[in-house]
Amino acid sequence: MAKNTLTVTDNRTGKQYEIPIEEGGAIRAVRLRDIKTGPDDFGLMSYDPAFTNTASCRSKVTYIDGEKGILRYRGYPIEELAEHSNYLEVAYLVVKGELPNEQHFRAWEENIKTHTMVHENLKAFMQGFRYDAHPMGMLVGTIGAMSTFYPDAKEIMNLESRRLQTRRLIGKLPTLAAWAYRHTRGLPYVYPDNELSYTGNFLSMLFKMTELRYKPNPTLERALDILFILHADHEQNCSTNAMRSVGSSQVDAYSAVAAATAALYGPLHGGANEAVIRMLAEIGSVKRVPEFIKSVKAGERKMMGFGHRVYKSYDPRAKIVKRLAYEVFEVTGRNPLIDISLELEKIGLEDDYFVSHRLYPNVDFYTGIIYQAMGFPMTMFPVLFAIPRTSGWMAQWAEMVRDPEQKIARPRQIYIGENIRQWTPIEKRPAPTMREDAVSDQI
Ligand code: ACO
Repeated sequence: MAKNTLTVTDNRTGKQYEIPIEEGGAIRAVRLRDIKTGPDDFGLMSYDPAFTNTASCRSKVTYIDGEKGILRYRGYPIEELAEHSNYLEVAYLVVKGELPNEQHFRAWEENIKTHTMVHENLKAFMQGFRYDAHPMGMLVGTIGAMSTFYPDAKEIMNLESRRLQTRRLIGKLPTLAAWAYRHTRGLPYVYPDNELSYTGNFLSMLFKMTELRYKPNPTLERALDILFILHADHEQNCSTNAMRSVGSSQVDAYSAVAAATAALYGPLHGGANEAVIRMLAEIGSVKRVPEFIKSVKAGERKMMGFGHRVYKSYDPRAKIVKRLAYEVFEVTGRNPLIDISLELEKIGLEDDYFVSHRLYPNVDFYTGIIYQAMGFPMTMFPVLFAIPRTSGWMAQWAEMVRDPEQKIARPRQIYIGENIRQWTPIEKRPAPTMREDAVSDQI
């Protein structure tokens, strides 16, 4: 009978090792340490820069099948959640593992809304940022500052404390995000209106002017809610890995979420939707699309919003976002960039280069077009990602904290530097050679 093991022969010694193949088709990397040439040998390691083939945890939160274009939160297909749920319900599902019943949902909503206000000192803190501060930088700084307001968050092993910080973070993120936006506009900050929905209140804090009460447009409110659902979690991506890795030092959740938000800020992660808008604006018109495609195929540039590390078929979120764009345009008017996107997508799905490289539209291909039509500046795009992703970060963090197999995250390295050298006094050190100058130029 076939055995669920891997047999490895070490050709240096001729020895054979049998390594169990575990759940999910993984072997424990630490088993490689048994493979050594002698008692003084450290044993083998696996080398995996960028973790392209390393599972860092066992998780129950999100399932992705990149070949088939499947995304599920806690087993529920993203399409069904986007169609029938609202963001707060999905946040409950992601954080707690089950969809809430009516009573649990009401209690959860109440609990989140209790925490939409922020301490007045945090407001003063935000007002200290320069007039042209990037809203994402403000968000990173302010979330980090929150750790000083809630020292009880240090009790990460206490379930009630974890619950409280989760509610606070999900409740306060829209307030901080909206205030960051108002700050860049030189507008007074708007306090939360808890009579509105989670996304309705966010729109109010962003766009309310002199009216007594802001009335969100229901189509835009629902569209933003769906976009929030689509961004709630995406398993072990760069920012979630940052959340888990920083959290593994047992720091409080605010510090870890600040780190995750910083990771999201990067153009290769939460900033790609902005790059799509810049690309579309640069192309300028549908008739220039073939010329642009030619330059992509010549390897001169990338088609932003296409391709994904995990999805090797159409990103299921992109399908939903594309449909949503038309609903938003009914209210905001058509964003002319959509015509360029549609033409790029049409060619991309037929062209040999894109087909052979398995490049399909990802979630960022259409989100920027919607955000822009709704009146958001590009600097707000990653902020709109960070708000809903907070529920995913908290779910993944809580899973990590409770996992007895997890310890402080600490990868190994392969040392490629100098061997032992003797210290010499400064006056006896030779002038640097050209090569050494070049080396020190690296930083
Ligand atoms: N346009 C043109 N060619 C591409 C693209 C693209 N968008 N993406 C990948 N390729 C090509 C690469 O040049 C490479 O070609 P080669 O094998 O002939 O050298 C091949 O496809 C494999 O690409 P990699 O970059 O090795 O794939 P990786 O998994 O490392 O990168 C990534 C994935 C970063 C998303 C990449 O596809 C990309 O840069 N896309 C554009 C940026 C983007 O849209 N990012 C958002 C991702 S979604 C998110 O983070 C929310």
